[in-house]
Amino acid sequence: MKKYFVIGNPIDHSLSPKLHNHWFKENKIDAIYDKKKIKENDLKNVFSEFKENKINGINVTVPFKKSVIPYLDELSPEADQTQSVNTIILSNNNLIGHNTDIAGFTQAIKNLNFDIKGKKIFILGAGGVVPSIIFALNKMNVAKIIVSNRTKNKAEELKSRFLNLDVLDWGDITDFDVIINATSLGLKEESINLDFSKLGNNKLFYDVIYNPLETNFLKEGKKLGNRTENGKFMFVYQAFEAFKLWHGIEPSINKETLEILSND
Ligand code: ATR
Repeated sequence: MKKYFVIGNPIDHSLSPKLHNHWFKENKIDAIYDKKKIKENDLKNVFSEFKENKINGINVTVPFKKSVIPYLDELSPEADQTQSVNTIILSNNNLIGHNTDIAGFTQAIKNLNFDIKGKKIFILGAGGVVPSIIFALNKMNVAKIIVSNRTKNKAEELKSRFLNLDVLDWGDITDFDVIINATSLGLKEESINLDFSKLGNNKLFYDVIYNPLETNFLKEGKKLGNRTENGKFMFVYQAFEAFKLWHGIEPSINKETLEILSND
């Protein structure tokens, strides 16, 4: 039986095992997908097991999307440009790091039928998933991207890699067409201390978080008359791309798939 894992810390919130195990069943693949909470100094062991074929594939989540890179033999161009890896395959004894968050986010936006081209985007946070979002937004030809992060130098570091960024102090607010919460605020019912009430409505409030399905950030956006969307489709599409890389099969995305993620 083949073995797959998502590694991260914290890992409890991850619905990857549920989704991949559902797709294994549906496609009659003899495999199991589990979650592994690890510490930075466990990475060496994890990757030696992977190289010995004891593991067949790994998804990577917070906070290891960058720190796994030294253990890999090769990166896809997207993983290399974002320095962010969320899916790892073993091919001809080489560990190859991919980034399917980019395709996941792109597909999630396409799904919304929201014309993001030429729009002004305000991103909250500068953690692991943000380079992928910026990469995807640039490909979709947005007009402007502004990043605000509690630890400002992390936003400044992004600016040195993606030249078209503006950086705003944490706590300050700017006008935008789309705001993206890419912080971890909301995973534990926290609110974000920004006042959106004077900016008008008909904007898109997007939260990368998918569990819980509606964070306080999205509740607030909705209350003010904006369109809102959680990270569920981004999550499903990044998993879809990972599944394709590992098994060469396009798994189904339908009502049943989405229900699996809601019954928690
Ligand atoms: P990492 O930064 O280790 O990659 P992440 O979960 O990808 O982890 O990112 C967490 C994001 O949420 C970061 O932008 C983090 O801000 P810092 O860079 O300042 O840590 C942000 N974040 C987490 N807790 C926060 C809080 N209480 N207030 C504001 N931002 C917070």
